[in-house]
Amino acid sequence: MLNAQEGGLKWLKIYRGAGVMQDSVPQLGSGFVRRQGMFDAVIAEADIALQVLSGAVRAKRPNPAGVFLPSSQDLDASQKRHAAGLMRVNHVGEICAQALYRGQSAVCQDVACKGLLLDAAAEEVDHLAWCGQRLVELDARPSVLNPIWYAGSFLLGALAGRSGVAHNLGFMAETERQVEAHLDSHLERLPAQDDRSRAIVLEMKADEIKHRKTAENHGAASLPAPVKGLMGAISRIMTSTAYRI
Ligand SMILES: [Fe+2]
Ligand SMILES: [Fe+2]
Repeated sequence: MLNAQEGGLKWLKIYRGAGVMQDSVPQLGSGFVRRQGMFDAVIAEADIALQVLSGAVRAKRPNPAGVFLPSSQDLDASQKRHAAGLMRVNHVGEICAQALYRGQSAVCQDVACKGLLLDAAAEEVDHLAWCGQRLVELDARPSVLNPIWYAGSFLLGALAGRSGVAHNLGFMAETERQVEAHLDSHLERLPAQDDRSRAIVLEMKADEIKHRKTAENHGAASLPAPVKGLMGAISRIMTSTAYRI
């Protein structure tokens, strides 16, 4: 029999890991049954948002760049600043991906679709952690605007999440397609000798391609051109500001 604290933790793990809420009512030690409600979901989401924004999240896979090397660069000051700007953009992109997929999954009623979104979000956690580690190596910090990007992206995801499975997955596929193009441009723009950032970006790109194909293979609909254009415009604002702040 679980005590109250263990019961609560068990429920949270199930909620975070699979997003499946109907099997997640733990028995508490006193004989009471804890029923989850909207308030629990809001608290759990707020907790995840705080972990993402505070940098408390940890990667499950090893960093593709290898072991952490504090400030051990072959880069001069301006190359380091440029690499940090690009990796900050990538870090913000992962903050947005995290918030988009959590926002979509929070309102998505289809269990299979919800699972695909949360699986992708789990891999984006690795990307987020790797980019954060690289920023530290480059003596740089994440964007100060991350809370705004997270909140806006979560809202956007929640709106997209109400549009049905095909459009939900279409939104995921288009997000991944735009991220993929943007990572390609970073591979060209990173300083030639910055192998560590490049290793991270290459691994991220392979994952984003996999996420896009997963969405497409599960019936992603093509989004209307104005929606794609709007997503691209938001992305351009994000990349130009995150490079600097
Ligand atoms: Fe990612
Ligand atoms: Fe992705």
